[in-house]
Amino acid sequence: MEITEKEFADITAYIYRICGLDINESKKYLVRQRLEPLLAAHGYESFSELNKTLSIRENADLRDQIISAITTNETSFFRDIHPFEAFKAHLAPKLTELVLNRKSHTYQRKGPKVKIWCAASSTGQEPYSIAMILSDYIESNKGNGVTLDDFSILASDISPKVLARAVAGEFTDLESDRGLNALQKAKYLDRVGNLWQIKPYLQRMVEFRRINLTESFSNLGAYDIIFCRNVLIYFDDITKKKIFSQFSKILNTSGLLILGVTENLYGLSDDFESIRYGNSIFYKSQVKERVGETVF
Ligand SMILES: C[S@@+](CC[C@H](N)C(=O)[O-])C[C@H]1O[C@@H](n2cnc3c(N)ncnc32)[C@H](O)[C@@H]1O
Repeated sequence: MEITEKEFADITAYIYRICGLDINESKKYLVRQRLEPLLAAHGYESFSELNKTLSIRENADLRDQIISAITTNETSFFRDIHPFEAFKAHLAPKLTELVLNRKSHTYQRKGPKVKIWCAASSTGQEPYSIAMILSDYIESNKGNGVTLDDFSILASDISPKVLARAVAGEFTDLESDRGLNALQKAKYLDRVGNLWQIKPYLQRMVEFRRINLTESFSNLGAYDIIFCRNVLIYFDDITKKKIFSQFSKILNTSGLLILGVTENLYGLSDDFESIRYGNSIFYKSQVKERVGETVF
């Protein structure tokens, strides 16, 4: 189906408004390719018909279908391995210290002592990879009083379609082979029918929630680490700045922001300083007077 300049301008303005994706002319084919099945399913004969419906009144169902169709959900277990190696070697020990330290303060509330947010987590391989590392670390350091319940991992995405898959924790052979070897598959997954299911103890570590990164994070609480990888590339600088500013507000003092390997915040935020762990650069919050202190 053809898409005129006006149709393209209208639909991309709508997409920018609902989820911040900055789609330029060079991605015209992508918009067509991804939205044509949706147009066909609704019986729209042109993009103008879709745009007209969208302009008449807010339609949450149609909006969600557009979000699910237009977002790029590419992910894998232990994607771009270096950040996970750094997390395992450097951050897991520090987070364990932090748990013990917070437990020693009686004023600390009950429940998880360390909070990690994995924003834009797609079908869940990224937060489950974090859960795998933490559970292994806890297992091999048994006896220090730290348990899985001391950690909470919030994983979020804007797309209801990928969130449903992430919650189910079921992966095909192809998906599980991307990032996991045979030993890891046997250790972390159960074979269920022709799929691979994340083991329940790992699934329990991750809470999935729908969160739009372009909306307010004000009721999310404070975090020690935020992973936000391979999504900022789809946003313009205005949106990125707003997101970094929000991250810096909910990260504990000296908490860490972990971005994708091709992403950085140079020129977009003064609230962080870069810090190297192994082969990875992470970003440490410089903002003082946060609710809590962390250890990085
Ligand atoms: C390429 S995937 C990255 C997944 C994972 N972080 C990784 O690095 O493997 C990008 C994800 O960002 C999500 N996304 C796009 N716009 C978003 C927004 N405004 N708020 C939250 N998530 C968004 C998409 O639905 C998609 O699942």
